[in-house]
Amino acid sequence: MAFNIAIDGPAGAGKSTIAKKAAEALSYIYVDTGAMYRAMALYFLRKGIAADDEASVNAACEEITVSISMENGEQQVFLNGENVNGLIRTEEVGKMTSATSIYRKVREKLTDLQRSMAQTTDLIMDGRDIGTSVLPKAQVKIYLTASVETRGKRRFLELQEKGIDCSLETICADIAKRDEQDMNREISPLRQAEDAVLIDSSDMSIQEVTEKILKLVRERR
Ligand code: C5P
Repeated sequence: MAFNIAIDGPAGAGKSTIAKKAAEALSYIYVDTGAMYRAMALYFLRKGIAADDEASVNAACEEITVSISMENGEQQVFLNGENVNGLIRTEEVGKMTSATSIYRKVREKLTDLQRSMAQTTDLIMDGRDIGTSVLPKAQVKIYLTASVETRGKRRFLELQEKGIDCSLETICADIAKRDEQDMNREISPLRQAEDAVLIDSSDMSIQEVTEKILKLVRERR
């Protein structure tokens, strides 16, 4: 049976950075499910669909195929065959993603793909509903969080490094709004699975969090 590690948590908690590091140390594949939701949101944006127009979102779902591949350990996400990795990390796409990932049709499309990958492959998968809904039998489950201030500051520095002008206040407000949406939606809301280990990374380094996860894996493998 494949060994699965589920990492869930709010935006900006460091899930992807840490999951990548842990996957490298274990020679496991890292699957970023947020990127799949982002690819779908990009399609809705391109089509000019409003986030609250569920009927149009549902119809558009029929036109979308999302797939991923691994290139040098980096996940690439494809939207109808087009590699959209470089287009999905904007704030605009992030907001649209959170607003449209509430719909059943959108979620069903992606969870099937995620489950089938995990059946045969040792992997680390991160997202919002991996431990609670996608892989309820994952051998290791982590709920990784940090304060809104910490997450906002990290995102602020990331954007500044890229030369993108932004305000810390707006970023913190956007993060809080995204958390609110992800935690309060009806289908597969973000919450800690009962058997998940809670890690608050506010005062921890990337290395410390990674070590803690690797220790849990060694104990359970
Ligand atoms: O992790 P990332 O910030 O890329 O996720 C973008 C959005 O995708 C989240 O805010 C959430 O609304 C949605 N998402 C989800 N379920 C997942 C992964 C992401 O609903 N498993």
